[in-house]
Amino acid sequence: MTGCSPNAFALAVTRSLLTLEECSEILPSMGAMTGLIETDQYGKALDLLLREPRRWLITGVAGFVGSNLLETLLRSNQQVVGLDNFLTGRRCNLEEVRTMVSQSQWERFVFIEGDIRDTETCRKACHQVDYVLHQAALGSVPRSVENPIATNEHNVVGFLNMLVAAKDSNVRRFVYASSSSVYGDHPDLPKVEDKTGRPLSPYALTKQTNEAYAETFDRVYGFQSIGLRYFNLFGPRQDPEGPYAAVIPRWFAGLIRGAEVYINGDGETSRDFCFVENAVQTNILAASTANEHALGQVFNVACGQRTTLNELFELIRTIVGKTHQHAREAKPTYRDFSKGDIRHSLADISKARLLMGYNPRYLVGAGLEKAAKWYIDEASVGAGAA
Ligand SMILES: NC(=O)c1ccc[n+]([C@@H]2O[C@H](COP(=O)([O-])OP(=O)(O)OC[C@H]3O[C@@H](n4cnc5c(N)ncnc54)[C@H](O)[C@@H]3O)[C@@H](O)[C@H]2O)c1
Repeated sequence: MTGCSPNAFALAVTRSLLTLEECSEILPSMGAMTGLIETDQYGKALDLLLREPRRWLITGVAGFVGSNLLETLLRSNQQVVGLDNFLTGRRCNLEEVRTMVSQSQWERFVFIEGDIRDTETCRKACHQVDYVLHQAALGSVPRSVENPIATNEHNVVGFLNMLVAAKDSNVRRFVYASSSSVYGDHPDLPKVEDKTGRPLSPYALTKQTNEAYAETFDRVYGFQSIGLRYFNLFGPRQDPEGPYAAVIPRWFAGLIRGAEVYINGDGETSRDFCFVENAVQTNILAASTANEHALGQVFNVACGQRTTLNELFELIRTIVGKTHQHAREAKPTYRDFSKGDIRHSLADISKARLLMGYNPRYLVGAGLEKAAKWYIDEASVGAGAA
């Protein structure tokens, strides 16, 4: 690498990523694969799993995304090993999944309470596993600004331990959670996978480092993985409490309880909000795709749809207002922009569509409707407990 250009690190990370133009060029030469967009790849992948069950490891299984993955895989009669240390994950998430599957499906689940910072635990968890879905990490940008060392330990050391354990156990595929934060200060919209900027937080740096490690393991050991850059996910079992809670569960809880709901800035900040079931879909597609061009790549996981915070507030108020009259007149309280917050975020999802057949089943409105029951139940429980 020559010189010290600001984007040198990001360029090194994304060096082998396919551009959208390259993806489009590959596609016509792939014969049967050209039908990807029209056919229901996800439905096919789930059918195949039902016929030929596999053994999966989900790290971070007690968390928001992990427990949603668990629910789908158990419903598909898969064998699942789950690993979590309950740092931010909740036992009640696992309990909830247990009530949503049959007894025989639940018996296919083995839980290991343990920490990915411990190499032996990672090795044990990967034993005889076909697919790893690595979700465990310490989330939240502000938390990483306050405690970069802890974020690095969980997100980089833990990630490397898992990568080594998966490689040494000869797992078929390692799929891991990256983040839209890797786009950092790159100005382009929509975001395309091969154009990232400088990280704007320690958290973003850990996710860029994950991608760099994954790419290096491909080059050095021939161990190929797939990274999924989640944009702002939402859905059942996303923790609405605490200082690092995400905006959607926090606003649902606030509106249901009649509490103040804050918007940072003028409300015209926008995000590509994505229902968690779309993220589950990408994990299953990434693990099962037969398209070799998808291996060693990273993909945006979003809807390709921009929603401002003002629009989001309106959507949530309308949903909550159906059952909670007081919410119908609720108004947000505007306050300062939060430091380091980017103004707009929007994903180009063509690469995942082209190479894996990703087709988000839920756009924002449908996802919010589907998630509402859980948020309403959760907020009522929280209010009762308070
Ligand atoms: N939720 C989002 O919008 C979003 C966006 C971008 C990226 N991501 C990434 O997706 C993944 C899942 O996020 P989430 O929203 O479900 O977060 P979460 O906090 O709900 O889940 C993370 C889980 O990992 C576990 N964990 C953390 N450190 C661990 C360790 N050292 N050993 C074992 N378990 C550990 C936690 O206890 C928790 O159950 C994370 O990697 C996160 O960085 C999430």
